[in-house]
Amino acid sequence: MTSAKFAALILVVGCFATACNTSGTLTTNHTQPSASPATATATATPDPSAEARLDFRKNCEDCHGDRGQGGPVEIEGRKVKVPSLRDGHALNHTDEKFVKQISEGDDEMPAFKDKLSAEEINDLVRFIRKEFQGK
Ligand code: HEC
Repeated sequence: MTSAKFAALILVVGCFATACNTSGTLTTNHTQPSASPATATATATPDPSAEARLDFRKNCEDCHGDRGQGGPVEIEGRKVKVPSLRDGHALNHTDEKFVKQISEGDDEMPAFKDKLSAEEINDLVRFIRKEFQGK
């Protein structure tokens, strides 16, 4: 007896659900342009974060590591102690300081102002904050 009531309830709820669904698809169908796959594959508007990732891999990863962890590395026969970009001082240093260090170099850190544009350096700083510091 109670199971019959339960079944009736499911029927009612089911009706409501399907009614909602049909009216929902009717309206949303119009708002989805079919042209979106074409723009998604286009490379005209590159993702700055993807570019920065590539720049980091090319220019920085040998010293700073793939996760910005740093550590002792051997570059061109020299042993270099690279600080982590994930914790320690790197968390407290400002974006301006990062930009300056990347542009002009510091101690064993090479200068990149002739290799990378100011925009690329800014993107790298944003990439470090987001990817390695979760900011
Ligand atoms: C030859 C190895 C080497 C390469 C290549 C290198 N770095 Fe560095 N980096 C260092 C060292 C060593 C330091 C610490 C400098 C110091 O002691 O003042 C440093 C410091 C830094 C700092 C400052 C960290 C802080 O705590 O303030 C940032 C930011 C940084 N590097 C980013 C980069 C980026 C971005 C690239 C690539 C464009 C790069 N580095 C390439 C070795 C390197």
